[in-house]
Amino acid sequence: MTLCSVILAAGLGKRMHSKLPKVLHTIGGKSLLAHVIETAAQLDSSSPPIVVYGHQGELVRKYLAHLNVTWVEQKEPLGTGHAVKEALPSLLKDSRVLVLSGDVPLIQLDTLKKLIKNTAAHAIGILTAHLLNPEGLGRIIRNDKNEIIDIIEEKDLAKHQATLQEINAGIYLIPEKYLHRFLPQLQNHNAQKEFYLTDLIKIAVKENIPIQSMEPHHPEEILGVNNRLQLACLERFYQRQCAEKWMQEGVTLLDPNRLDVRGNVHFGRDVTIDVNVIIEGDVTIGDGCIIGPHTILRNTLLGNHVEIKAHSIIDGAEIAEHCVVGPFARIRPGTVLSKEVHIGNFVEIKNSTIDAATKINHLSYIGDSEIGKRVNVGAGTITCNYDGANKHKTIIQDGAFIGSNTALVAPITIGLSATIGAGSTLTDDAPDNQLTLARGRQVTISEWQRPEKKGSHEKIDKES
Ligand code: UD1
Ligand code: CA
Repeated sequence: MTLCSVILAAGLGKRMHSKLPKVLHTIGGKSLLAHVIETAAQLDSSSPPIVVYGHQGELVRKYLAHLNVTWVEQKEPLGTGHAVKEALPSLLKDSRVLVLSGDVPLIQLDTLKKLIKNTAAHAIGILTAHLLNPEGLGRIIRNDKNEIIDIIEEKDLAKHQATLQEINAGIYLIPEKYLHRFLPQLQNHNAQKEFYLTDLIKIAVKENIPIQSMEPHHPEEILGVNNRLQLACLERFYQRQCAEKWMQEGVTLLDPNRLDVRGNVHFGRDVTIDVNVIIEGDVTIGDGCIIGPHTILRNTLLGNHVEIKAHSIIDGAEIAEHCVVGPFARIRPGTVLSKEVHIGNFVEIKNSTIDAATKINHLSYIGDSEIGKRVNVGAGTITCNYDGANKHKTIIQDGAFIGSNTALVAPITIGLSATIGAGSTLTDDAPDNQLTLARGRQVTISEWQRPEKKGSHEKIDKES
């Protein structure tokens, strides 16, 4: 039997109190809806997942335009039952339909596969869980034979049902022909005046259709995001799961609760990550790298044995093997460091290539530059790359030595093995192999007198 998946994502998400549609809020840097779409897309189905969208739908479609889905619009959010009804024309005939919620983001592929495998072809399958705190969720109602006979929303529970702890995860496997038959029968006579998909269960029970249920491995898999507290709880769960997976694969995390990955990361062997590290976008970390505490790595490639020291921000960079960066370094997009480069504290580098074994160890700004091999850039060197309208390039050739507190006014080229005297402001190129200075000369004025206070004959003393 063919499989179709439908993801419900048209609700208002009122409890988020947000301008952004709920399903676009993120966990691990990825929208809730993208998590569900990506999981559904890995199932063995003959058509892309169908997403029912509505509230601020254009925004949702725009954010997720890169994903292969069939979009179905639900113009008014009249309830989960109505949402699935809108998708009926897009369902494959005689398929089994996996209904997923765009706000239940961490559902695992294995759990869905089990639900599909364990549910008989003519039955309806439901994911449920026993929760200590089932607040806000629909409850599973069973008869004395332990068969599911209904699902009741919390707002519609009778007093004696209030203690029920088995909840409905909002994830179902339902044959398409039952959806066609039963969805038109739904009514909205309930606390929320909505057409509840959950009411389909009692209709199916009346027709003697078996209802089968299954619990996932971790209850967190099926927890929904309705408010920001739940979003934060699931974020922590997700991060912890990822951290455990990486530790099992050989990464040393000094505290697995203090690493946040918001994107995709690939770790080499024997990587050590200190506390409070944030990884964003696509990041590759080579063998033996050491990532110091309080650092951010974004869209970056680190070769083998790179050390990033505490409090550094590395964004959009390629850093080759055996480089040492930080503490307190800021590496910005377009930076390429060849092997064994040392970047020290309070150094900012943007859009620059820096060749092997060059050192920029203290208090510098290097922008739009091309720096050769074994260059020593002294403390406080600034490339003046911006004239107020345009950016210009600085070239420093192999073996040059730039004295401390030098301003290099671009466009400018410093020649091979050139030496620049400390405190220079260079506006012209400096030749190879020579010492170039561009600063006032030091003079001593021998007859100079310190000023005196009016009316006083005493000299101002040294300490005053
Ligand atoms: C729903 C279930 C509840 C279950 C819970 C699990 C119903 C009636 N209730 O409640 O039993 O315990 O999920 O998380 O189904 N949506 C639409 N169109 C609509 C309304 C909702 O597409 O008109 C989408 C929402 O965007 C959301 C999903 O359906 O992704 C669930 O809707 P929501 O309002 O969050 O339902 P819950 O109250 O959480
Ligand atoms: Ca929900």
